[in-house]
Amino acid sequence: MLRCIALTFDDGPGPHTAELLDDLRAQDVRATFFVVGRNAAAHPDVVRRMVADGHAVGNHTWSHPRLPDVGPAAVGTELDRATAVLAGLGVTTSLVRPPYGATDATVAAVAADRGHAQVLWDVDTRDWWNRDVTITTERVLAGAHRGAIVLMHDIHPTTVQAVPGIVDALQDAGYTLVTVPQLLGPDVVPGATYVSG
Ligand code: NI
Repeated sequence: MLRCIALTFDDGPGPHTAELLDDLRAQDVRATFFVVGRNAAAHPDVVRRMVADGHAVGNHTWSHPRLPDVGPAAVGTELDRATAVLAGLGVTTSLVRPPYGATDATVAAVAADRGHAQVLWDVDTRDWWNRDVTITTERVLAGAHRGAIVLMHDIHPTTVQAVPGIVDALQDAGYTLVTVPQLLGPDVVPGATYVSG
């Protein structure tokens, strides 16, 4: 059985995402991008390239609020606006990552209504806080295990700089890098929350 692991990148696309796509292409690796809808609208070509390169793209809402704080109608609007912009860029996804990993029964119900599953993570690099190539790399390697979902953010240049070394180290350790849809397989349940494969 393969030791699979999924790298995920939240909050983009941003100014450094194209460089990350270049690096992933050079290493022949596919990842998962949970994009913010308004950022996808601002960088449509980057999203199209994610799709063309075989990456998975998921819904990280339109404007990145804490969903439990906004009420069910706004949760629906946040999901639907992102879905609409992604659809226009060739992305169909049933995977949602709630901002900050913040969710509750109401969010789950709204997601379920739309056929969306929620994807969290079980390896948190805290790259947004440390902004450090070495620390981010160490946190991935320390947390790596079969089926892990690793949280990073492609809006930080230090994270983008860390990724080639992370990929090399994971592959040296025997991991196969896969997308979240590959990791979770076809039986994802709408409304359910996944933290690993
Ligand atoms: Ni986020």
